[in-house]
Amino acid sequence: MATAAVHSDVKDKGLAANGKMRIEWADRMMPVLQLIRERVAAEQPFTGVRIAACLHVTSETANLMRTLKDGGADVVLCASNPLSTQDDVAASLVEDYGIPVYAIKGEDEDTYYRHLLTTLDHKPHVSMDDGCDLVTAVHKERPELIDNMLGGTEETTTGVIRLRSMEENDVLRYPIIAVNEANTKHLFDNRYGTGQSSLDGILRLTNILLAGHTVVVCGYGWCGRGIAARAEGAGAKVIVTEINPLFALEAAMDGHQVMPLVEAAAVGDLFITVTGNAHVVDAEHFAAMKDGAIVANAGHFNVEINIPALRELATATTMAREQVEEFTLANGNRISLLSDGRLVNLSGAEGHPASVMDMSFANQALSTEYLLANHAELENRVYTVPAELDASVARLKLDSMGLAIDTLTPEQEKYLSSWEEGT
Ligand code: ADE
Repeated sequence: MATAAVHSDVKDKGLAANGKMRIEWADRMMPVLQLIRERVAAEQPFTGVRIAACLHVTSETANLMRTLKDGGADVVLCASNPLSTQDDVAASLVEDYGIPVYAIKGEDEDTYYRHLLTTLDHKPHVSMDDGCDLVTAVHKERPELIDNMLGGTEETTTGVIRLRSMEENDVLRYPIIAVNEANTKHLFDNRYGTGQSSLDGILRLTNILLAGHTVVVCGYGWCGRGIAARAEGAGAKVIVTEINPLFALEAAMDGHQVMPLVEAAAVGDLFITVTGNAHVVDAEHFAAMKDGAIVANAGHFNVEINIPALRELATATTMAREQVEEFTLANGNRISLLSDGRLVNLSGAEGHPASVMDMSFANQALSTEYLLANHAELENRVYTVPAELDASVARLKLDSMGLAIDTLTPEQEKYLSSWEEGT
């Protein structure tokens, strides 16, 4: 199926054979997406629709792109982060699946934005975003495309926050489905996916032992909960830092220590930010850290760790290992920063495992179908994934796992729908 004519900018098309193997391996763990692919291949709901996707270019994303293409879409893909691209997967998408890809692992910011704008040259009807960079580029740099846009989808918490801010400020000019808000997305991808893949990235980059060490998790949203649970399971002592009293209380009752970061800074061995906010780990925290502390980010953007402040404090820096930059401070302490503060799970490892991305990307495919069928009725707002779609993903995933559940008896249905029966 090789298609030499596909326009692209990838690292090395010679990597395609390895990428194809990895795409097929991931596909075996994506049974829900497979079922959707078979159905849309028969029904062709995406015929004539141009989709520009700005997602992490991974083997799991490749299977989503295949699904959209098999359903009739004309798709084009760029990276949603300069460090998350799997170059072999990008090559295979171009060479084996005929999908234009603009993404190279380690690309600089200029190239990242040039790639993003190149996907917009495709004049999409639908944007598929992970972090809202594509929607922002459409609104700010290519507003002439808006009249043709039918809608978009957004994969992640950070992107949904940006989109809601656009909606509130009355600047959002086409409808978006917030895939992140589906239960079958955030309860699994954010919690179990980020929980496992962030530690995977940190361990691949550093080979440190978690058992007996103190892991400080900054932020106790679904991602932070997942990381804290997995770190605890590996034998670490977990400290959670929060600004939200409810989340802090939950962390405490989940059995973690809770304290301000400035106190945790002095005792932590490994710090992981997952707050979605800027400069969470700042100069005062670096100054309090122990010699050998490691700092990593698992939030969407590389703003959570104040890297300029760390550079300012440092008297020397060196690359201690691949993607491990060691800063020596004036007090002699060394602090290691992983992956330049970018998403450690995707830069140091392969992102979330395929079985969890199966549900996230099933929601992406179904939400795109919903958007196309209903765009005429949708306003320029951020919509949640319809509950029936979300529930259908849960049912299909359970089936694929060979798990059956009970159903309500007529007597139980009647009981639940009546208000008269009490004590
Ligand atoms: N986000 C987190 N993990 C991912 C993966 N494996 N593929 C695409 N996006 C992701």
